[in-house]
Amino acid sequence: MSRPCPILTIDGPSGSGKGTISRALAQHLHWHLLDSGALYRLVALGGVRQGLDPEDRDGHARLAAHMEVHFGASDGAEHVALQGEDVTQAIRSEEAGQGASRVAAWPGVRAALLRRQRAFAEPPGLVADGRDMGTVVFPQADLKIFLTATAEERALRRHKQLKDKGSDVSLPALSREIAERDARDQTRQVAPLRPASDACVIDSTGLSVGDVVQRVLALGAARGMWAP
Ligand code: C5P
Repeated sequence: MSRPCPILTIDGPSGSGKGTISRALAQHLHWHLLDSGALYRLVALGGVRQGLDPEDRDGHARLAAHMEVHFGASDGAEHVALQGEDVTQAIRSEEAGQGASRVAAWPGVRAALLRRQRAFAEPPGLVADGRDMGTVVFPQADLKIFLTATAEERALRRHKQLKDKGSDVSLPALSREIAERDARDQTRQVAPLRPASDACVIDSTGLSVGDVVQRVLALGAARGMWAP
């Protein structure tokens, strides 16, 4: 597989801080960012909006291949549009996350999203955030990070994130949902969540965002990906 630009992959379970860390790194490096989870969330949401049968695998795979998606930024905030409609908030609900994890277990959906994801690799570089970035989508990546944190800390982080967005979810319910989603992501047949054999594992429990970013920057600098 050709490598059009340097690639940094950040994989890990829900609430491990991948999104925040990936965004901070992409901003720092002035690289592109792929939020692959958003694509799975868009397929799930698109299916609901189109009235697809929740078990219609082919219908969801077609949607994954043909849906019109736009990632953009305006007024300093990121926006995601599906078929021309702003769905930035809608894809972030826990419901969309659960739906994403269901459709993400289907091989046809994953295959349809492969090409879309690889198209994000453009100079000067790409930070790719997801579950299988280092194992399946960009196996040739220059640096692969697998970010973890204890289940308690991940549930607390997600709870705070949702609360800050005005969503009122109980912590025990959220912990259960995260455990369910982790189990499904780790045990599915295709592209299960696991660290690539050449990934650097970072446990972010008790670490600040800045601490984790510094560790990743040090690892990339040691490989000559950017200046120390
Ligand atoms: O990261 P996020 O919570 O947005 O991802 C939503 C769901 O999409 C995950 O629980 C996972 O099932 C799926 N996903 C995936 N592969 C990726 C990214 C996300 O299977 N690369």
